[in-house]
Amino acid sequence: MKIRFVLSFLCVLTLGLLVGWPRGFHTLTSKIPANYSYWSRSGQVTILMWHWPFGKSSSLQGDVCWDLYRIPNCKLVDQRSLFPFADVVVFHNRELSQGTEKLPLHLPRPRGQRWAWMTLESPAHNGDLYQYANIFNMTITHRRDADISIPYGERLPKKAEGHLAEDIPQNKSFLACWVVSNYRAHHRRTQVYKELSARIPVKVYGRWANTPLAISALLPTISRCYFYLAFENSIAKDYITEKLWRNAYQGGAVPVVLGPPLEDYKAVAPPNSFIHVDEFASVKDLAKYLQQLAEDKKRYSEYFTWKRQWKVKLYTDWKERVCKICSQYNSLPQEKIYSDLQAWNKANNS
Ligand SMILES: *[C@@H]1O[C@H](CO)[C@@H](O)[C@H](O)[C@H]1NC(C)=O
Ligand SMILES: *[C@@H]1O[C@H](CO)[C@@H](O)[C@H](O)[C@H]1NC(C)=O
Repeated sequence: MKIRFVLSFLCVLTLGLLVGWPRGFHTLTSKIPANYSYWSRSGQVTILMWHWPFGKSSSLQGDVCWDLYRIPNCKLVDQRSLFPFADVVVFHNRELSQGTEKLPLHLPRPRGQRWAWMTLESPAHNGDLYQYANIFNMTITHRRDADISIPYGERLPKKAEGHLAEDIPQNKSFLACWVVSNYRAHHRRTQVYKELSARIPVKVYGRWANTPLAISALLPTISRCYFYLAFENSIAKDYITEKLWRNAYQGGAVPVVLGPPLEDYKAVAPPNSFIHVDEFASVKDLAKYLQQLAEDKKRYSEYFTWKRQWKVKLYTDWKERVCKICSQYNSLPQEKIYSDLQAWNKANNS
């Protein structure tokens, strides 16, 4: 009797170790049906995060995509033991390029499983991708032409036309503000800043200016400025970051943008919500324009009328970005292979 008990205990223990206990055993038994393929039959898409971006994991308890984002039939998992059951396996590029994570090239890839390459960095910061030829089936990036586009933010139409008065920020103390920690002489934005600040006052914050801003002080500080220099540190297709979407729009300053071409901004940002550096023949003209605009309350306020019809949504959570795969899963191409990811990454790199 005793021996049988001990034997069955050992049996359970071995099983537990095989399926990844203690890390995975509890979750496997409590949340995942014994017959995992039941899910695919019920039309559920299983997404495996092979590793978490920047090593920051997050709870996947419950039906995350539905509970948080109202995206149905989407199962987000991060247990590698579920690799054989995953419809999509997501690899965040940073850890691959740093060598802290590796692709499971030794594992047989189930038929129909897609491998997704995910990054929010500009092409210049993704490292060499030559070794990833003929491996990935999907791209998940900020680019509009990625299979799953995950912008830093987006404009959404408002359901009801809103009131404007309270949306026009008052109490401005500075003409133009710039927050910069990564100051490089060769950046185009540095040249523009230098020329601009020679003509109009530009208040500079951030590590470079020895006036670091706590994250809690960022938006209140920006709100004191007529214009916020939303200058990207890399100039690349669709590379429009939280400098525009969060800092400028939430801070309530009119963004002066430098980054991808005007058309890229027009395609995604609210109409008449920003000033693009390239709209001017020279920085001198830009400086003059900003100065005149700040003195003309009516014309300045026109840069906020978009708020009647549009609102801005920020994307900050990797779970939401990955859940988005499910909403577009059925329109993904049947078969796709990125034969030259390096070339794709650098393509249209304006
Ligand atoms: C304007 O900003 C200053 C400095 O932050 C503050 O002391 C003052 O109370 C503000 N005035 C209004 C009307 O909000
Ligand atoms: C994904 O890529 C692999 C490797 O190139 C390929 O064998 C497989 O057919 C592709 N799958 C899909 C669904 O595109």
